[in-house]
Amino acid sequence: MNASNTGETPTSVLKSEHKVILRVIAVLQHLVDRSESGAGFEKHCLGRCVEFFRLFADACHHAKEEDLLFPALESRGIPREGGPIGCMLEEHRMARELTRQMGDAVDGDDAEGLHGAARQYIDLLTQHIHKEDNVLFAMGENVLSDTDQESLCGKFCEVACRSFGGKNLDELHRMADELEARWPAE
Ligand SMILES: [Fe+2]
Ligand SMILES: [Fe+2]
Repeated sequence: MNASNTGETPTSVLKSEHKVILRVIAVLQHLVDRSESGAGFEKHCLGRCVEFFRLFADACHHAKEEDLLFPALESRGIPREGGPIGCMLEEHRMARELTRQMGDAVDGDDAEGLHGAARQYIDLLTQHIHKEDNVLFAMGENVLSDTDQESLCGKFCEVACRSFGGKNLDELHRMADELEARWPAE
């Protein structure tokens, strides 16, 4: 599978992953709202959301950006230090730290800690995704050659075949589907 026979581009693959991440962010928002209103601390589902962010958003998606897309963009002249790539890397670091804090809070039944970390994570990731979709990826689409794009799509497929914390990509997509089915948007 590559860019020439599927119509996929590296940025279209990453944008579709953003949509999946945003669906689970909506579930997390819903669960935090419930918890804050006193309707209950849904420990199991909160833990599943955190596990999804750790394995899909971080281990799979952010790794594709950090190890593959961003180096390709740098090689085509988009700056890292003091530029958009450095900013995105710093936000990935913050997202990892907040994911760790959310996991600790869920494990420790610390509702207050969970609310604070989750609200920060939701704001950070929503804005981060907006910036990538509308700024960095738009820049990338202008500078990457067809060969760059085909090469990246091939490498993305290799990542997609890996397992993340013992789960393959289909299982992670199913986690998102199940969470969304259990807690549909109102
Ligand atoms: Fe990112
Ligand atoms: Fe992203």
